[in-house]
Amino acid sequence: MKQVNLEELFAEARKAADFAYAPYSKFRVGAALLADDGTVITGCNVENRSFGLTICAERSAVVKAVSGGHRSFKALAVSTPDSEAPVGPCGACRQVLSEFMEPSSPVLFAGSGNEKVETTLGILYPFDSLHDLGS
Ligand code: THU
Repeated sequence: MKQVNLEELFAEARKAADFAYAPYSKFRVGAALLADDGTVITGCNVENRSFGLTICAERSAVVKAVSGGHRSFKALAVSTPDSEAPVGPCGACRQVLSEFMEPSSPVLFAGSGNEKVETTLGILYPFDSLHDLGS
């Protein structure tokens, strides 16, 4: 299997952040998922004036991917260019990602600074008690 190139995936996430619709928070987020067949699917945050309806970049990427026929992802990258420090996926996104990624799947996230966090979904979302309900 081709080694996952997280830096390339992060570059795609960074580009996706420029599509963010974030007039309220002014905080752009881009996400890039690497599907099992090598396809990269990106997403960005899409806010709403009814603030609670905001969709995060990670879930936007998942919905786009699954509706395009991709159900299994081997890596995720998240870019938050409006923060210097890395910002990881929120709790809701971690739950949704766990439906389609293995605990061992690599996750890379970074802001505009040099620091990059490379971890796994299992570290971000341990004790996934509902996992066995999945098919
Ligand atoms: N946001 C994401 O897109 N992903 C995250 O994991 C954290 C937060 C978005 C939601 C909102 O549009 C903005 O960032 C500020 O919270």
